[in-house]
Amino acid sequence: MPVTVVVGGQWGDEGKGKIVDILAQDANIIARYQGGANAGHTVVYNGRKYVLHLVPSGILNARTICALGAGCVIDPARLLDEIDGLISAGINVDGRLFISHQAHLILPYHKILDALNEKRLGDGAIGVTGQGIGPAYTDKYSRCGIRMVDLLDKDTFIEKVKVNVEYKNRIIKELYNEPTIISDSIVSDYLGYRERLLPLIKDVSVLLNSAIADGRVIICEGAQGTLLDIDWGTYPYVTSSHSTAGGAVIGLGIGPTRIDKVLGVIKAYTTRVGKGLFPTEFEAEMQCRIRAAGAEFGATTGRARRCGWFDAVITRYAARLNSVDSWALTKLDVLSQLKTLQICVAYEYEGQRYEQFPPDMRIVERGKPIYDELEGWNAPIDEVRRLSGLPKPAHKYIERLAELTGAPIEMVSVGRERGETIFIE
Ligand code: GDP
Ligand code: IMO
Ligand code: MG
Repeated sequence: MPVTVVVGGQWGDEGKGKIVDILAQDANIIARYQGGANAGHTVVYNGRKYVLHLVPSGILNARTICALGAGCVIDPARLLDEIDGLISAGINVDGRLFISHQAHLILPYHKILDALNEKRLGDGAIGVTGQGIGPAYTDKYSRCGIRMVDLLDKDTFIEKVKVNVEYKNRIIKELYNEPTIISDSIVSDYLGYRERLLPLIKDVSVLLNSAIADGRVIICEGAQGTLLDIDWGTYPYVTSSHSTAGGAVIGLGIGPTRIDKVLGVIKAYTTRVGKGLFPTEFEAEMQCRIRAAGAEFGATTGRARRCGWFDAVITRYAARLNSVDSWALTKLDVLSQLKTLQICVAYEYEGQRYEQFPPDMRIVERGKPIYDELEGWNAPIDEVRRLSGLPKPAHKYIERLAELTGAPIEMVSVGRERGETIFIE
């Protein structure tokens, strides 16, 4: 399909990085449509692990162009570090990575305010990644954000930083009574980054629309996951952007009719990092077992991810919100050796059964998950490359997930490496 959106179907970390890297082998452009360095996308290729935060997960494929759209928030220091890391790993990034004029910049005060805000919230803290994401999107919607385009003219940039720092310092001092920041040092750091960023600034909407007109293959890469979307997620325990597939259209400057396919990525169980409700979360012992088996530690913050059974209510919701055409199911190998598996098929609250994800978070929080129990498979599957090679109970598990979510599964990932993948006709 010429234009495919890859979207997370749960709370992020579904394995989008691995799937995008696979699709990138047959693609021309990989374009990230939202989020910032809060994302951590892991690609394992030829035994080497790459963790990408801002650079799209197609960068390992030398033929692809990678772009960061208007919906992204860019931390220049993090981006340049990432680029340097790729260069020292022998990956040529030159002329292959572009950033939209309209993408917003993360500035040091965004990170400071992110941390202060969490401290202020105390027990109600969101559990953010500390990358300044919320404050940067807040500035964007308050119409005082600083964008890539502002770097084009030095004076405009310096003036905007000064105005913003003055206002942020009032918040830092008067509300939090913390040490203020100095705009001169920000300006000098950012003018340094500017030299390296200027050649990357490009009209990403023109790039994509002309590529679409030429019939090129484009992957729109989502970060985070459906349940972290600012409108559709488990608010307020969400990120501050549109991680759902609709975000691709806004974040990249292409129209909705140009999207040919939506591929959702789901893990064979559920994880979440940070706070917020999680109906199918495991008890302590299973929590440790699956966390260890799946190496469930955050790619950005190193935090232990919370783990639980597969929740078909949230993935059914993700199928609906994103118009998922098909799924890539990841980490099936992690469930090997469990005697039985549970799948949450609905929630029950005050005698009522909810198959559709309730918009009222109190119902989700207080409701009880209703589980289907399936037989496990007591065999490793990481070397299986064809569907027919999977044990019968694994087949049944896959079939049941497709049935419950209403979308077929077209890829099954059974290991971290690019090649550890089963493609289903
Ligand atoms: P993303 O944010 O959606 O790109 O996912 P992350 O990279 O944050 O987390 C997914 C983790 O699972 C990474 O460490 C991947 O290397 C790993 N992974 C991806 N697919 C599989 C799989 O099928 N099996 C196993 N065991 N690990 C996988
Ligand atoms: P990828 O792209 C998992 C979570 C944080 C926190 C909430 C808000 O790797 O799937 P933020 O820093 O965005 O304001 O934090 O969102 N979060 C993620 N969880 N994967 C991610 O990205 C995430 N990005 C943000 O843990 O709960
Ligand atoms: Mg991740």
